[in-house]
Amino acid sequence: MLVNLKDILKDCEQHKYAVGSFNTPTLETLRAVIRAAETLGTPVILNHAENEEEVIPIEIIAPLMVEYAKNARVPVAVHIDHGETFPYLMKAIRLGFTSIMYDCSSLPLETNICRVKQFVALAHPLGISVEAEIGAMPNNMAGCANGKEKSDLSYMEAYFTNPQEAALFAERTGVDALAISFGTVHGSYEGEPHLDIGRVKQIRSAIPAETALVMHGGSGTGEEQTRRAIDAGIRKINYFTAMDTAPAPVLLDVIEQAKGTPVHYGRLAKLAMEIMEEKVKEAMLVFLNGRSV
Ligand code: 13P
Repeated sequence: MLVNLKDILKDCEQHKYAVGSFNTPTLETLRAVIRAAETLGTPVILNHAENEEEVIPIEIIAPLMVEYAKNARVPVAVHIDHGETFPYLMKAIRLGFTSIMYDCSSLPLETNICRVKQFVALAHPLGISVEAEIGAMPNNMAGCANGKEKSDLSYMEAYFTNPQEAALFAERTGVDALAISFGTVHGSYEGEPHLDIGRVKQIRSAIPAETALVMHGGSGTGEEQTRRAIDAGIRKINYFTAMDTAPAPVLLDVIEQAKGTPVHYGRLAKLAMEIMEEKVKEAMLVFLNGRSV
């Protein structure tokens, strides 16, 4: 059933868990995420990021995302992840997205507030939920994935969200969900992540009750720290790298085992989907934080 993000976040707040928000730039990731959510009976969010256009254009993937969401036995929001340009967001609305992240976090605070506030005024009357970001998400994806350079991770606090700024931002913009930075990265970690859970609690108590907190960079964060972040108030977790990189070693092995005989791509794709489905279920069980399913 296709819903907007706000409907899902209400349930998350009531039952103190986080909804998983998964990028689905291929049919295999899309099917893996929907199958995992239906098996566990949990709401879910399907993401398409503006910088995934080079993997698949929104015009191709959006109708599939919307159709899978409509036919799912669980509530599903179809969401733009890190949307940065206004015409792109308008295109997403026309294609049926029910939720949009307008990421102006690289701009000065006042510009971020003004742009997001204007967008909220446009999106809310259409029944579309809005997520924004304050602070910055460092990027540690391999090479220059999705057009983003690797960030300098030597001083993580430089990226962290300031609680007073978060409060001002949430009040002035009226966003439904706010992505904050407190130690996670996009991509994989170098060594153990150290999440500043105290900061999440501070931000939670500073912002309006109706604004949900979002954690990006869910891959590799570990069960214990993820649960502590949820207990501190995180209600939506973005997760991609761990799922999307899980099939490659297994597929490589299958190809090597074939010893030069033809390998059918359809078989590889099905195997990849099954591996990702297991990975997504694993993550969802952590995000559900003990909620019975
Ligand atoms: P990971 O790829 O690190 O899980 O992060 C995904 C994400 O935050 C997408 O916005």
